[in-house]
Amino acid sequence: MPFTANRAFKRAPRMLVAAKDMYYTAADGRQILDGTAGLWCVNAGHCRDSITAAIREQAGVMDYAPPFQMGHPLAFELAQQLARMLPGDIDHVFFGNSGSEAVDTSLKIALAYWQAKGEPQRVRFIGRARGYHGVGFGGISVGGIDANRKQFAGQLLPAVDHLPHTHDLARNAYTRGQPQHGAHFADALEELVSKHGGHTIAAVIIEPVAGSTGVIIPPKGYLERLREICDKHGILLIFDEVITGFGRLGASFGATKFGVIPDMMTVAKGITNAAVPMGAVCVRHAIYDTVVNSAGAGIELFHGYTYSGHPLAAAAGLATLEVYRSEGLFERAASLESFWEDAVHSLRGSPNVIDLRNVGIVGAVELEPRPGAPGARGFETFVKCFEAGVLVRSTADTIALSPPLIVERDQITRMFEVLGSVLRSVA
Ligand SMILES: Cc1ncc(COP(=O)(O)O)c(C=O)c1O
Repeated sequence: MPFTANRAFKRAPRMLVAAKDMYYTAADGRQILDGTAGLWCVNAGHCRDSITAAIREQAGVMDYAPPFQMGHPLAFELAQQLARMLPGDIDHVFFGNSGSEAVDTSLKIALAYWQAKGEPQRVRFIGRARGYHGVGFGGISVGGIDANRKQFAGQLLPAVDHLPHTHDLARNAYTRGQPQHGAHFADALEELVSKHGGHTIAAVIIEPVAGSTGVIIPPKGYLERLREICDKHGILLIFDEVITGFGRLGASFGATKFGVIPDMMTVAKGITNAAVPMGAVCVRHAIYDTVVNSAGAGIELFHGYTYSGHPLAAAAGLATLEVYRSEGLFERAASLESFWEDAVHSLRGSPNVIDLRNVGIVGAVELEPRPGAPGARGFETFVKCFEAGVLVRSTADTIALSPPLIVERDQITRMFEVLGSVLRSVA
């Protein structure tokens, strides 16, 4: 089982058997309020009829089409619709099947771009401490979660460095929205430029809001500063928007929310409301043009997946974007933001809580780790919430919440009441 304590799980399994809108049904029949949109991905709520119908219909029309040297209209239609939503001149899309594939693809596109531009010495990638970019070798190399790297440390990508993370409890605890302090953490990029030479750096990759590590919200001015330094040295900036895309922050993307436009964006999860796996890299016009137009005749990018732009995923993606549009779900998320923020901060003073933070429809409750047992308090909280009928997520001792964007106010209230009462019962 992925990222699971297999032996413990098999002793006491937690099984889900059905889902609709805001609720899962557990194997014992209990309704579980989904406080996490599955795994940050079911942004429109579960088993939405129009998405299900689109997948079902496409399965009967054309189950599969090879994406190498062949195409099908739905993939192009989805790319075009996405391009219209993307910020700046980001207007070309390469499809894969997951966030991990999107990340590794973006790193390969960065290398291909610099080769095509005549700067093949630009090969170094800069990630960030505590960053999560999936589980491919590229993703774990630029990623900064120690546990995800250690087992594989002997064979990571060689030319990679990391910026410091921006989590600063001493100065920013209990911040509502973006923290005041920490824009200066971006200056570490200047130090890496001095160390290696800007002309050797291909790209910087970060999550606008780091999700999987336990929700780290960018300090005011931080993303702007990173963009400036990248521009100064001609370095590509990649936003990994696998979590922050599709309304999670009360805007279409993190780039839109924070007003900082990267050169490439990786997306996945909410692109199909998670109903069929799909991921994508979105790139600026000039990146596409450079890679494609500087190549000789024939294939320009030696990369692709059997299931790139899979017809069922493309159908699910088109139906999902239609739900987002017709129900105004990104605007709905924005309109719920202050209610959500108050609900998150209602836990101030609960036992063992050392920080509360929020942005968009994302909330985090950081707990003091038990001495000698980091993660145990967070995991116990997650299990007890599940037993009490609410799905939350624990990463180490941070509890993260990110419900579907159709969540109602009384459901938000219930999530935090249950979490509050669980916190009072966890030693
Ligand atoms: C920012 C980010 N990038 C990449 C990934 C990997 O996505 P996947 O699990 O679909 O490979 C995730 C997954 O949570 C993520 O949060």
